[in-house]
Amino acid sequence: MEEKYSRVKELLEEYGQEQLLTNYEKLDVNKKNKLLDEILTINFNQIEKLYQNTKKEISFSQINLQPIPYVEKDKLSEEEREKYKKQGEELIKEGKYAVVTMAGGQGTRLSHNGPKGTYDLGLDSHKCLFEILCDTLKETYEKYGEYVPWYIMTSEENNDDTIKFFEKNNYFGYDKSKVKFFTQGQLPVIDEQGKILLNKEGLINKAADGHGGIFVAMRKNGIIYDMKARGIQWAFIGGVDNVLAKMVDPILAGIAKQKNVLVAGKSVVKACPEERVGVFCRKNEKPSVIEYSEISKELAESREQNGELTYGESHILCNLFNIEAIDEISKDKLPYHYAYKKIPYMNENGEIVNPEKPNAYKFEAFLFDAFESLEDMAIMRVKREEEFAPVKNAEGVDSPETARKLYQNFYNI
Ligand code: UTP
Repeated sequence: MEEKYSRVKELLEEYGQEQLLTNYEKLDVNKKNKLLDEILTINFNQIEKLYQNTKKEISFSQINLQPIPYVEKDKLSEEEREKYKKQGEELIKEGKYAVVTMAGGQGTRLSHNGPKGTYDLGLDSHKCLFEILCDTLKETYEKYGEYVPWYIMTSEENNDDTIKFFEKNNYFGYDKSKVKFFTQGQLPVIDEQGKILLNKEGLINKAADGHGGIFVAMRKNGIIYDMKARGIQWAFIGGVDNVLAKMVDPILAGIAKQKNVLVAGKSVVKACPEERVGVFCRKNEKPSVIEYSEISKELAESREQNGELTYGESHILCNLFNIEAIDEISKDKLPYHYAYKKIPYMNENGEIVNPEKPNAYKFEAFLFDAFESLEDMAIMRVKREEEFAPVKNAEGVDSPETARKLYQNFYNI
């Protein structure tokens, strides 16, 4: 171990990260070893580049922005509806459709102790977010006699707790053999000076690498291979926190097939120009999502002749991907964005600090950056009150209270 220690020390000196060993002597042997191993796996050049990016001003001037066409589910003719539905239903019945739930986020805004999916929404039934999603898959089974394969992405931080929770709840009555967990990647978090932080245990302080980490995680964990081996052609990828998500939607699948595209996304109408949501668009000719922080006030407020917002199709993290698209996208890492957050850490005196204001950067890839690698995609506008009830904040907008009301209204309970 001494040799390893010397190697690590040299490495840290080279990159100016010596603070990582200041509490080393206080650790037990196992942790000492673990810390050294963790340090040896860090890509310090990448961390340096990510840190430099936090200092760069983002320029949006070269973006050529265009609205993107969409189909409105509610305005499909009876004939179109039936045609798409039939195409989609065939995929489901033939076992070619799977669902992936991204449950690796830290859910910091909700402040729930445990994986976000285990959060009790406060219904009379006390169903948690995982069970609410599972209910829709059970409905699919009742309709089509097929247990759709359900893949759940966790993080290093919440994987064990998530699996235990499913075991304890007997997989909510779903066919256990159809459920598969896989874990997403992590990146070290750094302070304002670019120094990597230690966590409460004195090991490297890491955070999940964003929902855009899903594609690489699917490749690394053999999920793409597993899907192909099972004959799955389409995977719906969504978050864990939309309690009205319609994860199995034959019409969306039918539209994707008909339009001959590899990805189809659902949108809801942006409530007002100021709403803090990303919207579907074409960016430099490619399908994309522009964040509320990236769009100028003028474009955000621009309206069409019919009075609707020109950029009004909100992205709700409900997208259907063909397995070939996932395979391609997973070959490269998506770009990382930084978020300035309050992150507890162990300081150089071995004390745990719980900051009251943001103190550190974490790095995340965004799933929708993958759209820019496509020539085209299909967008289907759905009704907000039928398909979008997010649980993000502990109180106020997009909170358990608002999501519960939307859920109760939709199911009439
Ligand atoms: P959000 O971006 O809303 O993040 O995730 P979050 O973790 O739920 O909450 P905050 O921002 O910390 O408060 C949208 C969806 O993407 C998943 C989340 O679990 C949620 O289902 N996600 C997010 C991941 O699976 N991994 C990540 O690294 C980030």
